[in-house]
Amino acid sequence: MSTKESWGSRVGLVLAMAGNAVGLGNFLRFPVQAIQNGGGSFIIPYLTCFLLMGIPLLFVEWSMGRYGGRFGDHSTPFILDSIGGRNRKLWKYVGVFGIFTNLAVAAYYCYIESWTLAYVWKSLAGAFNGQGTEAVSQMFTDYTNLGTAEPIVFWIICLALNTWILSRGLSGGVEIAAKVGMPLLIFFGIFLAVRGVTLTAGESGAVYDGTEGLNFLWTPDFSSIWNFKVWLAAAGQIFFTLSVGMGSIQCYASYLRSRDDVALNAMSAGWMNEFVEVVLGAAILIPISVGYLGIERVVELTQTGGLGLGFRTLPYLFQQWGPWLAALAGLAWFGLLFFAGITSSLAMGTPIMGFLRDEFGWKRERAALAFGISVMLLGLPTVLFFQYGVFDEYDYWAGTVSLVVFAMLEIILFAWVFGIDKAWDEITRNADMKVPIFFKYIIKYVTPVILVAVFLGSLLSSGGILDQISNKAIHEQLAVITDPAQRALLEDKLLFVNGSRVLLVLVFAFISYLVYLAQKKRDREGRIPVESK
Ligand code: TRP
Ligand code: TRP
Repeated sequence: MSTKESWGSRVGLVLAMAGNAVGLGNFLRFPVQAIQNGGGSFIIPYLTCFLLMGIPLLFVEWSMGRYGGRFGDHSTPFILDSIGGRNRKLWKYVGVFGIFTNLAVAAYYCYIESWTLAYVWKSLAGAFNGQGTEAVSQMFTDYTNLGTAEPIVFWIICLALNTWILSRGLSGGVEIAAKVGMPLLIFFGIFLAVRGVTLTAGESGAVYDGTEGLNFLWTPDFSSIWNFKVWLAAAGQIFFTLSVGMGSIQCYASYLRSRDDVALNAMSAGWMNEFVEVVLGAAILIPISVGYLGIERVVELTQTGGLGLGFRTLPYLFQQWGPWLAALAGLAWFGLLFFAGITSSLAMGTPIMGFLRDEFGWKRERAALAFGISVMLLGLPTVLFFQYGVFDEYDYWAGTVSLVVFAMLEIILFAWVFGIDKAWDEITRNADMKVPIFFKYIIKYVTPVILVAVFLGSLLSSGGILDQISNKAIHEQLAVITDPAQRALLEDKLLFVNGSRVLLVLVFAFISYLVYLAQKKRDREGRIPVESK
């Protein structure tokens, strides 16, 4: 029953993997995280996390995936199962994370992706022409408050597009999307980055040079290097942007052939992501908004959430360049976000499809449809109750906490249970580059220790997981706010936040049950993992 699917070409594979990593995270989440965490003081923890945690995890996940593929496994439950050996029955339930995360993140991610489509349309149609800053911002509020049916229409179009591409398979769908989308994204990105960096004070209403924002970001600031929160934010960003701890890299890598290289491929895709993030991602949103508004105002704007800067502020600022250039910049910005988004959401679909096909013999079209419908059902609450914080709740549990937990457990499995010597053989076998030997020690000791520290830190620190569970922030606000309308909103928020958690737990339980059924089916059929290919 093993699925005979594989990648068409090496270029296609690396672009698809880079497309997996390069996403909304690079252009919206990175600049906002950097600003919120003090600019120059964010960069040092960020780069340290990339070297000591990001790169090792890329090696680990790529080789785990290729290893699983040899046994015909394409999703993390049974990839972890074969790595854990047959007498360790629990690892496949750890692997549930690698399906759960993809589904729950896709549920809100595809919604943002659909905004980008709508905003390409609005930019080209001149919807922002001649509008003031308040009006452009209000358009976004109205949009997410579902003032019209427009958001629903674009959301459905976006889900249908994802489903359709996924139903065409890897080489016939995902790979083509990456080959078209990635070059266009880089082209749009360079256009906007040049615009951002060369912005000069006084020109079309700008107050500062574009380089003002870059200096803020790139002037190292050692003062907050001991601030644990900054480290957590940096680690979280590295996870999110590289797509590690999610199961989608393992899934893509499981479609490699066992004689294919993983080391050089992993480095190519990983560094391509970093280029897009720290060069292009840093040179658009920050320089342009700081150029017009100054650092203080931009910091203030990110306090209420990061998405506003991209969807409320930039479309207004583009207007300062005249209608033609504004339409072009809008097309480039939202088009870039769209390509970044779709090549990532496709990567979220494949593990789920791989699981359904491997274990239950589903056809590709049917599996793609199952993904599309599940994302729609699970996404509905984020669409309908966006203003109650449902979206942020999904992002916190599925897009942040789960990644750390999963990465911590999988690296322990690979380096300690499977064993570092076998693990190192997997990483270096047929490698097209020489992997420096010190990574062996980093993977065995340093990365697991960092991950455990990050996990414990995020559990216990103020504003961390425990505070989040007890809804500390909302209760603190309730304790001081007396205005009945505001109180009512907070009470509702509490309800929706708790409701989303119950929903997410149920989803996790349901996937675990499917994994349990799959194991029963395997037992019944006497299916013992056999190496193939
Ligand atoms: N790395 C992507 C980004 O930067 C997000 C992403 C890709 C993702 N694949 C994923 C998130 C799988 C969760 C699960 O935007
Ligand atoms: N919630 C984040 C904020 O408002 C932004 C964010 C989280 C985000 N996850 C994302 C943006 C994924 C884009 C993609 O600061």
